[in-house]
Amino acid sequence: MKDEGNNIHSVFDELIQKSEKESFLKQRAKVVWMTGLSGSGKTTLAKYLERKLMESGYFSKLLDGDNVRTGLNKGLGFSEADREENIRRIAEVSKLFTEGGIICINCFVSPTQEIRRKAKEIIGEDFLEVFINTPLEECEKRDVKGLYKKARAGEIKNFTGISSPFESPTSPSIEIKTKGKTIEASGDELFEKLLPFIQIERP
Ligand code: ADX
Repeated sequence: MKDEGNNIHSVFDELIQKSEKESFLKQRAKVVWMTGLSGSGKTTLAKYLERKLMESGYFSKLLDGDNVRTGLNKGLGFSEADREENIRRIAEVSKLFTEGGIICINCFVSPTQEIRRKAKEIIGEDFLEVFINTPLEECEKRDVKGLYKKARAGEIKNFTGISSPFESPTSPSIEIKTKGKTIEASGDELFEKLLPFIQIERP
C-alpha cells in the first residue's frame, strides 16, 4: 500500500498540448481568480462575465464556492486548514481546465494572501488575481444570504470579515470596486479589463 504512488505513470506529454487547444478555441486560457468578501458580488459578476464571454466567442467554466462545497469539497468547513484544502483542490481543478484551453472563472472568498499564493503556486502564470472590492459595511448591508446577521449573532463561527480575517490583495491583476455601480457596469468593466489577457489574434 505504502508504495502505491510509485506505480503512477503520468502521460501529460502524450496529450494534446494546451497551446493547440488554445489555438483551436482562439483564446488564451487563464484562471480568473476572484477573491472578495462573502456578498461582495463575485458569483453575480462571474455569471455576467461567463455569459458575456460566450456571446463574444470565448469558452469558459465557472467554479463557485457554494456549489463546489456541495460536491468535490463536501465536508470541508471554514477552519484555516479546511479553507486551504478547499482552495488547493480548486486550484488543481482549475489547472486541468486551463490545460484544456478553457478560461476558468473562480469565485472563492480565498481570504488570505497565503491561501492565494498557494493557489498561484499550483496554477502558475495563468493565475489572474481579481479583487472584487466591496467594503464590509456594504456586504453586510446587502446580506443576500442572511449570513452576516447570523455571524453577528454568533451563530456562524470563523465567518470571513466578522470572526475570521480577510486580507485584501496588494497588487491584483484586476480590481473591481462595486459600490455604487450596477452589475452591468461592474461586469462590463471586468470583461474589458480581462480581454487583453485572453485575446489572441483572430482572423
Ligand atoms: S473559502 O474561504 O474557503 O474560499 P468559499 O468561497 O469556498 O470560502 O465559501 C464561501 C461561501 O460559503 C460564502 O459565500 C458563504 O455563502 C458560505 N459560508 C458559510 N460559512 C462561512 C464562513 N464561516 N466564512 C465565509 N463564508 C462562509
